[in-house]
Amino acid sequence: MSYLEPWEDKAEAERSDRVKRFVHQIKEDQRLDSLPHVLKPLPSKQTVMGKGSPHQTGDLTCYDILTRGPLYCFASHIIDIAPHVPVRGIHRHIAAPTIFCLRGKGWEMNDGVTYQFESHDMVCFAPYSVHQHGGDADVGCAMISLATRLFHSFGLMWREQHKMTEKPVFPDGTEPLYDETGKLKGYKIKRGVLGITADIEVVVGAEPKMEEVFQARKLSKPWTAPVLDTYERYLKLYDDEVQYLSRVDHVVHESREAWEWTPQGRLKWFVHPAIETGGRQVWAYLQEIPPHSRSGKHAHVAEEQLLVIEGNGYDIHDGERWNWQAGEFICIPRMTTHQHFNTGDSRVLLLCAMPSPFTDVGLGGIEQLEDAPEYPAAD
Ligand SMILES: [Fe+2]
Ligand SMILES: [Fe+2]
Repeated sequence: MSYLEPWEDKAEAERSDRVKRFVHQIKEDQRLDSLPHVLKPLPSKQTVMGKGSPHQTGDLTCYDILTRGPLYCFASHIIDIAPHVPVRGIHRHIAAPTIFCLRGKGWEMNDGVTYQFESHDMVCFAPYSVHQHGGDADVGCAMISLATRLFHSFGLMWREQHKMTEKPVFPDGTEPLYDETGKLKGYKIKRGVLGITADIEVVVGAEPKMEEVFQARKLSKPWTAPVLDTYERYLKLYDDEVQYLSRVDHVVHESREAWEWTPQGRLKWFVHPAIETGGRQVWAYLQEIPPHSRSGKHAHVAEEQLLVIEGNGYDIHDGERWNWQAGEFICIPRMTTHQHFNTGDSRVLLLCAMPSPFTDVGLGGIEQLEDAPEYPAAD
């Protein structure tokens, strides 16, 4: 049951907004403080799409905020594609996460175009594009989707299934749905699940209104006229957004991006405003920490999610120690001073991400409190 339950009580919902807000912020703070900063990965299982894990810090709905880790925005999941498995399902959603290849190699179909990626490449795709992930037949691949629940608060959580994997496994509380010819057409979520009072049918295919909106965008032409007033900036923005997404690369190749020695340590950026990609939900980079060394110490208002790809060590968050090892998720709550320490004889490799909208609201900056010991150093 969600901790948001009091809001569902009719009498309580009538209380003053100010009272509700103060009660809620205290409850959230207590909840945030009670949750662990290092999470073991939730295991993968078969779904209607293929094999994948649940979202590591709760589902993409806002009702799942602070249910597993102390992060408000991040809800990433792992996609597992073993060699020679049935082809995965196809779906579409407005939120377009960036997907990092953890191992192996594969392909990504996006609105009918197929892109190849290899280990440690980042796959970015456009909002509401039809997509399918595939692994190399011989080695397969594993990927992490850097997804956030921001789109729920935007009112844009919409997703639709276009095709299920060849051997779908239906979740608890659901059953397959067939058309009059006996062909599988979706699945039914049964009455009683999550309190619904009637069955819900999840039928494969596009939703007409969404389809219309996004098809119209695709027909947009480059804006060539002068911008005569402030309103026209938004008319031009509509065209610019479409043109941008049609020209940018869908794969940020690890081999083409440069390592940089920074005050925080050795970083390689994949998604940020100066790299042209379709991915805009998060800013993301790799951090490498040499054996028995440490990162710089810094703080930022934005929360941060890290996946430990290689190595083991610990973090210090506002003076508190949190041990971690490869495969685990480090959750850094908003406004936390933090530093990473490598306790092993080999490098630590971290995939780090912060929600990008903090930059748009004037809260994206980083405060540096201590530099990494190797900085400055030549690469
Ligand atoms: Fe997807
Ligand atoms: Fe950070």
